[in-house]
Amino acid sequence: MKQSQQQLQLQQTAMLLIHPSSSKLLWILSSVLLFGFGLALGIITSSYLTTIPSPLPLQTSQSLHPPSSPPPSTLVPLEHHPQERVEILKEYIESKEVMHDMNDEELLWRASMVPHRRVVPYERVPKVAFLFLTRGPLAFAPLWEMFFKGHQGLFSIYVHADPSFNESAPNDSVFFGRRIPSKVVRWGELSMMEAERRLLANALLDFSNQRFILLSESCIPLFNFPTVYSYLINSTVSHVQTFDDRGPNGRGRYNKRMRPMIKLEQWRKGSQWFEMDRSLAVEIVSDVQYFQLFEKYCKPSCYPDEHYIPTYVSMKFGERNSNRSLTWVDWSYGGAHPVRVWRMGVTIEFLNRLRSGSTCSYNGANTTVCFLFARKFLPNTLWRLMKFAPKVMRFGP
Ligand SMILES: *[C@@H]1O[C@H](CO)[C@@H](O)[C@H](O)[C@H]1NC(C)=O
Ligand SMILES: *[C@@H]1O[C@H](CO)[C@@H](O)[C@H](O)[C@H]1NC(C)=O
Ligand SMILES: *[C@@H]1O[C@H](CO)[C@@H](O)[C@H](O)[C@H]1NC(C)=O
Ligand SMILES: *[C@@H]1O[C@H](CO)[C@@H](O)[C@H](O)[C@H]1NC(C)=O
Ligand SMILES: *[C@@H]1O[C@H](CO)[C@@H](O)[C@H](O)[C@H]1NC(C)=O
Repeated sequence: MKQSQQQLQLQQTAMLLIHPSSSKLLWILSSVLLFGFGLALGIITSSYLTTIPSPLPLQTSQSLHPPSSPPPSTLVPLEHHPQERVEILKEYIESKEVMHDMNDEELLWRASMVPHRRVVPYERVPKVAFLFLTRGPLAFAPLWEMFFKGHQGLFSIYVHADPSFNESAPNDSVFFGRRIPSKVVRWGELSMMEAERRLLANALLDFSNQRFILLSESCIPLFNFPTVYSYLINSTVSHVQTFDDRGPNGRGRYNKRMRPMIKLEQWRKGSQWFEMDRSLAVEIVSDVQYFQLFEKYCKPSCYPDEHYIPTYVSMKFGERNSNRSLTWVDWSYGGAHPVRVWRMGVTIEFLNRLRSGSTCSYNGANTTVCFLFARKFLPNTLWRLMKFAPKVMRFGP
């Protein structure tokens, strides 16, 4: 018995020493297996508990205690409350609280778990996760409230704000209690990527979330909720903008030390404001190799948030990506920052141009609905947007 345990430990150590690329796979596999095994054991144990008042020693961690110790009292309530098993499942389907005490490493590990059984044993209504990466207050909260109104159960909201921001949303707001444990984010630094992965990971904890959209405090919706929901839920691909910019702000930011994992011709650029499906989101939170490479070699003036996801997705999951962004923005002035839309810039014609002024492909067909969201809107556009929303965007009173 002791010997075989030692062998097992040796094997595990050997697994860790294997080439890093295969150890990542092994790591994912073993975490999935461990998780599945733990879940199965939990279900078996609890169903035993509800049927037979078993005199056998229970195979839990507590049975490691010397046999003379009293029977573990924490297990007793299960006999009287068989519904406890249902609660465990519920926790995986939808965790009510978004606050938790996991650190980033624990969170990313937990979020990387994937069920391997295809058939879902409960009625699942897919949800869209709206991930707000902000500094302080959400200037467009009233517009978003209008947008979400009446569609409870089809969306979930996660807010990553600067830790110094201490205001909380009113208790009747869709943003109430939706802040996740956050850290300081610096523009253009790796902390931005870490925040994006933190948002994704928190949203992955809810198994009903099937699509994930990253938004900032300057983003607005261009269509009503039913349109956005059906567009995203029915889409066969993710929407991560990636392109090959041969200039100094594209390939010019590549570091030769990333070879051989990333070659110059594989280097991509794209907007950080992604939309992705669940399987891609799991890949992003599970990646260690590429992320570490960016951590080491993508420093200013290389911006991880403009290159990490575009490069990684284009290299590994290109065929599952539309390569375009769903968030409209105006780069026509050039420079490091896009044009900001000011109050008088918001007209019905302008909004209609964003809604249907371009052509792109959606699930194999041509469409003029290419953008569902837009940035960068100044807070003083709120009043006009609220006014035009019912007529142009078809939501609101
Ligand atoms: C919130 O932060 C501000 C300054 O950042 C401070 O003046 C204020 O007292 C804080 N409020 C609460 C309730 O902590
Ligand atoms: C919501 O907040 C208001 C005050 O801002 C308070 O009167 C009310 O009881 C709160 N409602 C709930 C459900 O906590
Ligand atoms: C997806 O498309 C199908 C066929 O067009 C439609 O019947 C269905 O309602 C759509 N799903 C959603 C969630 O809108
Ligand atoms: C997106 O780019 C990838 C290569 O990175 C390519 O394989 C794929 O066909 C492109 N998708 C579309 C819809 O153009
Ligand atoms: C989409 O439009 C392009 C031209 O922009 C055309 O070549 C292509 O055939 C169209 N595709 C479909 C499915 O209509």
